Amino acid sequence: MLLKFFTLIYRNITIENQILMNTEQSLKEIVREKYTEVANQSKDQNAASCCGCGPTCGPDEDFIGIMAEDYSKLGGYVADADLGLGCGLPTKFAQIKPGDTVIDLGSGAGNDAFVARAETGPEGKVIGIDFTEAMLTKARANAEKLGFNNVEFRQGDIEQMPVNDSVADVIVSNCVLNLVPNKANVFNEIYRVLKPNGHFSISDIVLVGQLPAGLQQAAEMYAGCVSGAIQKESYLGLIEQAGFTNITLQKDREIFLPDSILSTFLLPEEIASFRTSGTGIYSITVYAEKPTASDGSKPSDAVEIEIRLAQPADYESVVSLLKSVGLPTEDLNAKLPDFLLAFANEKLVGSAGVEVNGTVGLLRSVAVQEDFRNYKIGGRLVNDLSKQVRLKGVKDLYLITTTADGYFEKQGYERVERENVPAEITQSQQFSSLCPSSAVVMKKSIEKPKIKLSDLEQVSACCTPNSGCC
Ligand SMILES: C[S@@+](CC[C@H](N)C(=O)[O-])C[C@H]1O[C@@H](n2cnc3c(N)ncnc32)[C@H](O)[C@@H]1O
Repeated sequence: MLLKFFTLIYRNITIENQILMNTEQSLKEIVREKYTEVANQSKDQNAASCCGCGPTCGPDEDFIGIMAEDYSKLGGYVADADLGLGCGLPTKFAQIKPGDTVIDLGSGAGNDAFVARAETGPEGKVIGIDFTEAMLTKARANAEKLGFNNVEFRQGDIEQMPVNDSVADVIVSNCVLNLVPNKANVFNEIYRVLKPNGHFSISDIVLVGQLPAGLQQAAEMYAGCVSGAIQKESYLGLIEQAGFTNITLQKDREIFLPDSILSTFLLPEEIASFRTSGTGIYSITVYAEKPTASDGSKPSDAVEIEIRLAQPADYESVVSLLKSVGLPTEDLNAKLPDFLLAFANEKLVGSAGVEVNGTVGLLRSVAVQEDFRNYKIGGRLVNDLSKQVRLKGVKDLYLITTTADGYFEKQGYERVERENVPAEITQSQQFSSLCPSSAVVMKKSIEKPKIKLSDLEQVSACCTPNSGCC
């Protein structure tokens, strides 16, 4: 009797699993069909049919693409590979080095793969994975035209990657995971195929809060990407559960929904509270690392790094760290306000500070002790500090550097001409007297930027049943 009871439970579980698997398979079939159609259309046709996440069908000249960002300025950009389907610039933030092996998940026609190839150089390797045959055909034709023999496109499902364990230094992906039914499987696979100490940079669409029902449906109609998007917290939680560390949001942009859309679903007073609620659709670029193997390929990698706010008592150690790497200390505020420090076994190994002046800040004293340069401590300090000073109202961070412009470019900083630097920065001691005039000035906006979503009416007009949309 007992045996029969368990058999029944087991049968129910397997039936449920079977239904779930069938649903997931059907969803994948729909995605594959949609992207077969997309692959056979031009970028303009994709835009006009509102498919994917590319620049939209709106005739409005001021219109900024729904989710896509401008790839054309990146080294290695191949126009034929850009079908306007991305929702970020993961490869720009991926910190790829010459010689790296990079995997691009859901590689489409190869947009990110070719940008990655420009960074790995001929001595590296790029593998694109996609399950849509028509996309692979396009991507392979592009690689052949370019004569690249180190860019390969493999057919496969990214929930079960056709790749051996621990082969990739870096993984990138652009607007793909939102389409995958079981995102946990993908993060587990990423963990498996990354080398210890490898990392990923992934752009994707996520939700924050519960969108009003009608609005969610409208958003899905507008951009196919939204339909499989999950809550941002759940997304980041899956990354953590898969075992990744140093999870960092490299970009976090809210997709701006204009009043003309919101007013279809919400009363004026509800729009006001929606605007301040934080609820919405976001395009994120998230970075994370696979920790070094605990079996210790390098014994010193087991060291735990503690990051905390600086206290006045830390002043002497900070001065000696900065001096050891040749950074100025003469103008250092002894109370170390807005400074974050990194410690290994209670020894100071890294620092970063911001001189806050209203809505602008000067990032300074970013230093990591030489033995600890492989732990990405600098990136963690700068990231955490940026979030902290944003809470104080800082919108733009500036920095002056003589040697690290390449590094900061990868962190999203852009060069600015000295005449465009605000007085709050030019009057700082670092700027006016301590750094040589040959030093490069860089800027990054740390405000949460918003991008515009066109009027829904335009969408309904162009999303016809045979347009390939949604
Ligand atoms: C929005 S497009 C992005 C393409 C490319 N990353 C780009 O930015 O141009 C999504 C791509 O992911 C692929 N894709 C979706 N789900 C997949 C899965 N489970 N396994 C492999 N590829 C998948 C689709 O075939 C499509 O080419």
